Amino acid sequence: MKAIRIHQFGGPEVLAYEDVPKPELNNGEVLVKTTAAGVNPIDWKTCSGGGASGFIGDLPFIPGWEFSGVIEDPGNSQFAAGDSVFGLINFPQRAGCYAEYIAAPAEQIAKLPDAVDPELAGGLATAGLTAWQALFDKGNLQKNQQVLILGAAGGVGHLAVQIAKWAGAHVTGTASVHNHEFLAELGCDHLIDYHNEDINDHAAEMDLIIDCVGGETGIQALPCLKPDGVLVTLPSVTKDKLIAAGDAQRRRVETILCQSNADQLVKIAQLVADEKLHLHMADSYPAEAVEDAFHLSAEGHVCGKLVLTF
Ligand SMILES: NC(=O)c1ccc[n+]([C@@H]2O[C@H](COP(=O)([O-])OP(=O)(O)OC[C@H]3O[C@@H](n4cnc5c(N)ncnc54)[C@H](OP(=O)(O)O)[C@@H]3O)[C@@H](O)[C@H]2O)c1
Repeated sequence: MKAIRIHQFGGPEVLAYEDVPKPELNNGEVLVKTTAAGVNPIDWKTCSGGGASGFIGDLPFIPGWEFSGVIEDPGNSQFAAGDSVFGLINFPQRAGCYAEYIAAPAEQIAKLPDAVDPELAGGLATAGLTAWQALFDKGNLQKNQQVLILGAAGGVGHLAVQIAKWAGAHVTGTASVHNHEFLAELGCDHLIDYHNEDINDHAAEMDLIIDCVGGETGIQALPCLKPDGVLVTLPSVTKDKLIAAGDAQRRRVETILCQSNADQLVKIAQLVADEKLHLHMADSYPAEAVEDAFHLSAEGHVCGKLVLTF
């Protein structure tokens, strides 16, 4: 089969589209013929030697942790050949989703409702689960609470905006002005132009901050929290700085490592099928063009999600 692999860490130029053996199934796994694989910042971070590179074992390495596809061999699972499925698998260990076939643990994936576009669904699991787990599992979001989303236009951010609104929260987001109309249409109540406006002049008494940006951006937003509020920070590379700043300002900071969760995937996919959650596809690339997708993701201004098709 064809897959994208790296044989050394480096920039997008180390990605090779090449022939590799089809994966063999271990107990509890299903064989999936891939429709699409989502491109996430963790992919280029890991391929450049950061991100999850400490968890993936020896090179060569097939990147990618999320996919959509069709079951080719259901093993002894509850799935049947031909089922349309999607998921985030084995994160942060190797998963090999940038490939024509994937061996996926059956308990980590979910069936895709007919109403959801299979190609779009390749980019749904990671951002959807991260948004869900940050809002509810870490943030304990309640109806009528005030939520601030830093980096609201990105993969995680634009889903977090909509899931928070669906849960009955009042949502403020930060983004460049050219993304404000997009976010207002998704339901964002207030928008802050982070290039020209100070977050603290426009947001206060927040119950929950979802920090998709990290570093100084997250630290500068801490005074917007209510004394008993919580900031959930996503980028792991700056999480220790955020925790230290939170301690100094007596504000609670939570970190997160998104987890596979089939029950949550079912709920997220149903929201998409019911048109209560809209996944915005920024662009879709044939797998061979993965370098272009990595360049764009690494620039840090993708609005919505990127996927690779197989
Ligand atoms: N810990 C975990 O389990 C976990 C899971 C998923 C993601 N993450 C991490 O969380 C981060 C976000 O992920 P993602 O997939 O949402 O990334 P993404 O889609 O690449 O985010 C791009 C977005 O970030 C916005 N942005 C950039 N700088 C900003 C700033 N200073 N203020 C406000 N917005 C800014 C851009 O908006 P504009 O174009 O408007 O500037 C763009 O829409 C990444 O670092 C990722 O690695 C962690």
